[in-house]
Amino acid sequence: MAEARVGRGKAPVKIFSYRAQETRKRNTRSAAQRPRLLDLFCCAGGAGIGYWQAGFEVVGVDIRPQRNYPLPFVQADALALDPAFVASFDAIHASPPCQAYSDLAKRNRNADDGPRLIEPVREMLMKTGRPYVIENVDGAPLLNAVVLCGTMFPELRVLRHRLFEANFTILAPPHKKHPRVHTFDRRKSHFGKTDEWKDFVQVTGGGNCTLAAARHAMGIDWMTKTEINESIPPAYTNLVGKQLLRHISFVGRGPKVLRRIA
Ligand SMILES: C[S@@+](CC[C@H](N)C(=O)[O-])C[C@H]1O[C@@H](n2cnc3c(N)ncnc32)[C@H](O)[C@@H]1O
Repeated sequence: MAEARVGRGKAPVKIFSYRAQETRKRNTRSAAQRPRLLDLFCCAGGAGIGYWQAGFEVVGVDIRPQRNYPLPFVQADALALDPAFVASFDAIHASPPCQAYSDLAKRNRNADDGPRLIEPVREMLMKTGRPYVIENVDGAPLLNAVVLCGTMFPELRVLRHRLFEANFTILAPPHKKHPRVHTFDRRKSHFGKTDEWKDFVQVTGGGNCTLAAARHAMGIDWMTKTEINESIPPAYTNLVGKQLLRHISFVGRGPKVLRRIA
């Protein structure tokens, strides 16, 4: 474990080193050739791995220790990072907590318990001048957001809408009609008629499938149930990341980045 100063004059934060995952798809670019992406609010890395698969070198930041984050990791408050550290990356992704915005929290009337971090995060990211992405749930106050859904990805079987705001163009595949989802609820008319290994599932706190089936449906093989509930399928950020790479290669940051992604 290494230490470094990345916060505003605060004590050094912990930086955990990269741990290889046997099952992760290999990317042909070496780390030195890849543009660098900062993965803020990273949790166990659903978003981070998608960018890594797209071709980025990724560093994650979370306020809590993330033992299962499979890439280099910094434990820190994302909003207290040194602006120079944030701007040293070629692009930034942020997944601020969604509790304040989710329909479930609004229905349960506990939305006010969660912090509303989207506006301060956007302000911080705009100041860097770098390309950025903010991801959150349906109902979150994102600007000109694109919706991604599991039905858009042939390899996924999860109903999970997520919004993506960016300061570059993101194109989404066509959205398909939602199929019925597997259920553990005996009151549902299709109870017992679906298969959690073949049909679509929903990965939520209560859950309507086993952890193993949730992992299979989301293309994630390293997370606990609590972590996967928070996560997005890497396929979403793989798609966004490939478009971000093309954007960087167009506008670039000068010859250094262009050389790295050529
Ligand atoms: C919705 S999860 C992110 C999920 C992740 N993008 C993924 O795909 O796996 C939000 C994360 O933000 C973290 N968090 C909350 N407040 C934070 C802060 N001020 N700074 C950094 N991380 C924070 C939480 O610990 C949690 O892990």
